[in-house]
Amino acid sequence: MRHLMSPLDFTVEELDKVLSLAGEIEKNPEKYAHVCQGKKLATIFYEPSTRTRLSFEAAMMNLGGNVLGFSSAASSSAAKGESVSDTIRMISCYADICAMRHPKEGAPLVASMHSSIPVINAGDGGHQHPTQTITDLLTIKSLKGRLGNLTIGLCGDLKFGRTVHSLINALVRYEGVKFVLISPEELRVPGYIREEVLDANGIEYKEVVRLEDVMSELDLLYMTRVQKERFFNEEDYVRMKDFYILDKQKMALGREDMLVLHPLPRVNEISVEVDDDPRAVYFKQVQYGVYARMALILTLLNTKVE
Ligand code: NCD
Repeated sequence: MRHLMSPLDFTVEELDKVLSLAGEIEKNPEKYAHVCQGKKLATIFYEPSTRTRLSFEAAMMNLGGNVLGFSSAASSSAAKGESVSDTIRMISCYADICAMRHPKEGAPLVASMHSSIPVINAGDGGHQHPTQTITDLLTIKSLKGRLGNLTIGLCGDLKFGRTVHSLINALVRYEGVKFVLISPEELRVPGYIREEVLDANGIEYKEVVRLEDVMSELDLLYMTRVQKERFFNEEDYVRMKDFYILDKQKMALGREDMLVLHPLPRVNEISVEVDDDPRAVYFKQVQYGVYARMALILTLLNTKVE
């Protein structure tokens, strides 16, 4: 039995298989419409979510399976003081696979140690978000045709943004990937990612504050929201929240084949006027998220489809 805590739990080859399966599913959804009949996915979410939870549920339904779960800590027995390890033991009796989101870093890992069904980390605090990464990789591979030889700009809250942490972890394994880390000084990528992931793998990267200065270098621009819920005080958030606003003028500085991704939800960091630009692919990315999660569920349930 396997769990998914970080994108690195899969080798590059295994991840390639998941991405190919997602591509297969996109081309031929009917073939997969009943393969999880009789199976149940539990989504246990202790933190707000729209896309991740609903796309997991849509993915399981598209496979012919069923879903159950809760969408906030307040509506679960966590409010009565139940531990994550007790909750997962119980969920293991109700479901075949479980996606869990939690505000505490490492909570899904603790759950996986007490679980008799596969546990998927659907976001743990400011740490990791591997299923968003599989979604991002699928989007990039499908629309760019490759995962290597790319200059990738990551912009916004690189300190608390777990999607960024997981994406960097996954992308350093491909040839010729360079990063441009665009953030205010206070929201730089954590030191452990710079040292243990970027430096340790000999990855070329630079850190800059101004987006305008680097737009023309990028193959991909990955925008992120300032993570309000992880700030210790409101004033710091208010000072940072509108630091970057991607608008038409800045888009004009980007290459014709540059893609703009965003894990969503967006607040102000991408102006709605950019949505009609063909390079803005963040809503396509949402659709890829469903295929990615379908492929992941099949992989972790070890479901073979002939
Ligand atoms: C992200 C998350 O939860 O980390 N959202 C998502 O899952 N698509 C990004 C965010 O909340 O900013």
